[in-house]
Amino acid sequence: MRDLAPRKSELDSIETASRDEIAALQLSRLKQTLRRAYDNVPHYRAKFDAAGVHPGDCRTLEDLAKFPFTTKTDLRDTYPFGLVAVPHDRIARLHASSGTTGKPTVVAYTQGDVDVWSDVMARSIRAAGGRRGMKVHVAFGYGLFTGGLGAHYGAERLGCAVIPVSGGMTERQVQLIHDFKPEIVMVTPSYMLAILDEFRRAKIDPRECSLQIGLFGAEPWTNAMRAEIEQSFDMHALDLYGLSEVVGPGVSCECVETKDGPHVWEDHFYPEVIDPATGAVLPDGAAGEIVFTSLTKEAMPIIRYRTRDLTRLLPGTARSMRRMERVGGRSDDMIILRGVNVFPSQIEEQILKCDTLSPHFLLELHRHDRMDAVTVVVEARPHAAEEAERELGAHELAHHVKSVVGVTVAVRVVDPGAVARSQGKAKRIVDLRPKP
Ligand code: DLL
Repeated sequence: MRDLAPRKSELDSIETASRDEIAALQLSRLKQTLRRAYDNVPHYRAKFDAAGVHPGDCRTLEDLAKFPFTTKTDLRDTYPFGLVAVPHDRIARLHASSGTTGKPTVVAYTQGDVDVWSDVMARSIRAAGGRRGMKVHVAFGYGLFTGGLGAHYGAERLGCAVIPVSGGMTERQVQLIHDFKPEIVMVTPSYMLAILDEFRRAKIDPRECSLQIGLFGAEPWTNAMRAEIEQSFDMHALDLYGLSEVVGPGVSCECVETKDGPHVWEDHFYPEVIDPATGAVLPDGAAGEIVFTSLTKEAMPIIRYRTRDLTRLLPGTARSMRRMERVGGRSDDMIILRGVNVFPSQIEEQILKCDTLSPHFLLELHRHDRMDAVTVVVEARPHAAEEAERELGAHELAHHVKSVVGVTVAVRVVDPGAVARSQGKAKRIVDLRPKP
């Protein structure tokens, strides 16, 4: 793999500024954001008033903790445009995330917001090793989902040529990578595996293809999966994180020189980690739920948005801005088995230790005798055709899960291709428990 680390002179000066400079910028932007929200969004004004806080009460960054959280329910209750802080003729773009129940959550951008989003995405692609002149194959979905267009505008901003493929039609994805020779791919990690399978089916050696960099996100994935992708394609695989309510992809991204968790672009998004049960702010290093406040958004400033994503804040390494540990899961995706919290990403990590199993999997939830139980449905690798090999794989996986994660699971090994492929975010949990 090539050394693709950007030189310091190529970075935005704030990426290497001192912590004091970053904090000073954050505080002045935070004050403006709180003021903008209070003055222009009745919903925020009512919530601040009910909590007895006023934008003027924010004198230090720590004072933010006095302000109320915003949740998905606030977005639903004000559907579609109740949190918009600008006259509607200033809205340049709308996106929405579907969610599993009820109305979608809508997010609005001014032209200035689209510009900032393009900047942070360009910064993310550069952090991953991307450069002006490279070609970027975007296989995130285009449309209301923020993945495709977010990646697209960022790549253009950096001066790359964009190939706007969107998700789906896996054969064509491989054909285009083979023919157009992009250096960069941006896609969900689970769909990258489907693309990898197609390379092999088409008998094209993925290590010989032009790809040097992959930015993967929109769903949890693990370092074990990174190793699998890097080895299969002989390319760098980096974690890209974000969520629609905050901007879309580009809230944070890993740097190619360290690959040690995404750096939060703290000049635009202020992170806090809280105890999800009490809401108390936790010190850096402690694990909890990450909460973001936008610092520059105009159309829809977001104050203390509860992401449900579990992680911790860590000191900066390749940049001065803090890192977040890679998000291993959302509190909504957590399964509790006899008191032990289990995330699909922990199972993925164990699957990748087993030679005969491939990381195409899902978790079936059952209930037996009022106890929850999990069956891991996982595909065999194509070379593991023998029943005995599969049985061994199943035993091996159950053993790893028991000894590392601490829970007992059943394992069902199925044929290669039997687990439905996602073309975007993978759905890992199938809940077969009787409805209450
Ligand atoms: O998934 C934005 C995005 C697109 C991020 C492309 C990265 C790449 P939403 O659809 O609103 O937005 O979903 C946001 O996805 O709260 C996390 O739970 C999850 N997520 C996003 N990136 C990562 C990641 C986009 N790198 C939700 N690791 C977030 C783990 C991620 N989970």
